This record gives sequence, structure tokens and C-alpha cells, in this order.
Amino acid sequence: MVSVAEILKGRHTGKKVELRGWIYRTRTVGGKAFVVLRDATGILQVTIARDAVPADAFAAVEKALIESAIIVRGTVVADKRAPGGYEVRAEDVKVVHFAEKFPIQEDPGEEFLLDVRHLWVRSQRMTTIFRIRHTAFGAVHEYFRDQGFWEVSPPMITPAGSEGGSTLFEVEYFGRKAFLTQSWQLYAEALVLAMEKIYYIGPSFRAEKSRTTRHLTEYWHAEMEQAWVGMDEVIKHAEGVISHACQRVAEERPDDVVAMGRTPEFLKAVKPPFERLTYDDALKALKAKGMEVEWGKDLRTLEERALTEGKTKPVIVTHYPRVTQAFYKARDPKHPDLVLGFDVIGGDGVGEIVGGSERETDLEAIKKALIEQGQDPKAYEWYLDSRRYGSVQHAGFGMGMERLVQWICKLDHIRDAVPFPRTPARFSP
Ligand code: 4AD
Ligand code: MG
Repeated sequence: MVSVAEILKGRHTGKKVELRGWIYRTRTVGGKAFVVLRDATGILQVTIARDAVPADAFAAVEKALIESAIIVRGTVVADKRAPGGYEVRAEDVKVVHFAEKFPIQEDPGEEFLLDVRHLWVRSQRMTTIFRIRHTAFGAVHEYFRDQGFWEVSPPMITPAGSEGGSTLFEVEYFGRKAFLTQSWQLYAEALVLAMEKIYYIGPSFRAEKSRTTRHLTEYWHAEMEQAWVGMDEVIKHAEGVISHACQRVAEERPDDVVAMGRTPEFLKAVKPPFERLTYDDALKALKAKGMEVEWGKDLRTLEERALTEGKTKPVIVTHYPRVTQAFYKARDPKHPDLVLGFDVIGGDGVGEIVGGSERETDLEAIKKALIEQGQDPKAYEWYLDSRRYGSVQHAGFGMGMERLVQWICKLDHIRDAVPFPRTPARFSP
């Protein structure tokens, strides 16, 4: 039993193999059936000559529609005419399941493909993205574990948010009000005083009503938190983890990268350090491009696009105005109207891939910030204990895994970076 990818790498040429998969395309010409077989690793042409296989087997293949499941035994041959350069000449073939007429035909509309997402996940486009996503997830775990971080798991059902009330999903919790997590933020700041260097990848939820090409309501969040360090140290980890993911994807999935319209060389060049500029300098750079941003306003998509224009690596913006920022971010001691916070911004319209900061350690300053943002400090009593018992300098960040995959794969829309996207308009299938 071998995989399509192994055959396409030339590992089984001239050998007898057995393959399992699904019919991706099929046509019969004269006494020959040309079946393109799909498995988890790719597609491969199988040639089935009427006189080379048992008569009932050929009849079954002729009848089988696309997406029927088959098992093929045959010999691998290098053949320039076959897509991918190899084909299998069948000696036997068994139809395991005769598929009904597949609903996805040529030129389906975008909305229809979302309706039948459970079938569209079989497409070459989706499986290529899934493989890259798999490698990126593995690389994030690998990076943090190699750097001495502990993986710890926060809860998903929470009593209070950390990223502002407007994007909180409410859940009814046995007659009480609870929320789906937006970030592990509050739990990370409790756990970091126990484990010092921590990370995790898990789902985050945002009741984000805006329909954009880079927002999901449910996304996978890679987060890290570290004690005894400030913003600069965690920026190095943000660069490090993005770079490591790019290196791994380039090394392990070069063909998939090319299929998505990137090159392995592009990803290999994503090495630290990334270009860094302060928010104030970003406004100046934008002004030079004729874009006026009012001081204090968040950078919008078009401004992030302008800042990354022509850049092959992501760009880091630091020292944002405090007014727009979450209550836990540390004030800049030199400029109290700024925070020691940063975003890592990717090109091609993906925008913010990472958001992070040093954390405020002063108990009274946090309480004040909570009140300013319309929150009740009482709901955060347990969290504030992190500033009462052994509070130390600490910092961390969160990276949207779909934003990373969107950027690596150069996707127009974030929804294809995840198998079953959740957006304001739909939560099925
Ligand atoms: O900038 P955000 O809101 O930061 C936090 O949640 C921090 N508490 C993280 C931390 O320091 N531990 O979100 C972090 C990242 C963003 O940079 C973005 O990549 C992603 O999460 N993100 C989204 N991805 C997809 N859809 C959405 N609606 C997202 N909202 C944020
Ligand atoms: Mg952010």
C-alpha cells in the first residue's frame, strides 16, 4: 500500500503497488479507462486496459462515477504524458463504493461551494491548504517546545472577556451568563506566574459582525506568555515562530507551496529580523504616501496594505496609542499615552497576523483602565490576584493561525484557511 505522493516522488517506479483512493476524474477511450485517483496526498493517473484486468473489474470501473472509492493494483511507470510524470498501469481494480452523481460539477458558485463544504473539502485546493496548515501547526508547537515553553490549556467557557465586550459570544450556562473565550489572556497571566514560559494553540471566538476577508467568528489562536521579559523579547519570538513555520512549510511542502502561487524561496527568505517601526513612524510613512491617519486611530486594512507594499517579510508596528488598546497592556514609561504593544503585519492584504504586548503590572493602573473601558473590576477580581501575589514583568502575544495560513498560501479570503469556516453569515455545515 503506497501513497500518491510517494509515487510522484519516483520512489516506486517499475514496482508493483496497491493504491486506495477516490475517482477524481474518469474517461474511457476505446478499450482503456483513464482514471485519475485521489488520495490524501495528491492525484495520479491510473490506466486500466480492458484486457489487462478481469472483465467484471473493467465493467465496474466503466460504470463508476467520480468520487467512487476504488482499490487499484498495478505497476508504476514513468510517463511524461501523465500529469505529474507518473502513472499506474492497473492489473486489478476493485470499486469499493459506487458514488451517486456528485453534486459539485464544473464552475460551481462560491456560495454553493460553501453550502457543500463537506464535499468541497475533498478538492485539490482544500487538501493542499490542509497539508500546509498541518505543517504550520506542527512548526508552532515545535518552535515553542524547542524554546523551553510549556503547553498549558486554558478554558473555553469563561466568566469575562479580555478583548472588549463588543465581540463576546454569550452562552447560557445553566441559567447564568457565560462567554466563549476571545483569548487565553487572563488565564495566561495567571499561569505564567506558575510556569514562566507558556504557549498553547486553541480556538478563540469573536462575535465579529463585520464581513471582511480576514475575520472569522471562530479561529485558531496560537498564544504565548513569558515571565521576566518585556516587549522586545517576545517580538523576537513572534519573528522566530513565523519564520520557523515558513521554513518548515518550504522544506516539507514545496509542491503544495507552488500550487498555492507562492515559492519555497519566498518563504525561506522570511527570516528575522523583520522591519520594525513605531506607530508614530508608521503614520509618517503613510503620510509620505499621501495617507492621512488621525493620531490614535487604529490602522485600517488599506493602511496596513500600504505599509507592507512591496515587502516580502511581515512588518512590525510598535508603541500604539493607549486609547485603542486592551486594559492589560503596559503603558510605555516614557510616553504614558502609548502602550508597549506591537502588531506583526503581513502583506497581500492579510494584515495583522500577531498582536502582543508587555503587560501592565500595576494593580491600580489596571483597575483604572478597566473602568475607563466600561468594565467592572469586580468581574476581574481573580485575575487581579496576579498583580497581588508576586507580580513580575511579563509579556506575550497571540497569532491567528488562519491569518498565518492565509498569508503563506496567499489566499484572497481567510475562510479557506480552515476546513469549516464560521462567519457571521453561516455556521453550517
Ligand atoms: O490582537 P488580538 O485581539 O489579541 C489578543 O487576543 C491578545 N489577548 C493575544 C495575546 O496577547 N495573547 O488577537 C490576536 C490575533 C490577531 O493578531 C489576529 O491574527 C487573530 O488573533 N485574530 C483573528 N483571526 C481571525 N478572525 C478574527 N476575527 C480574529 N481576531 C483576531
Ligand atoms: Mg490586535
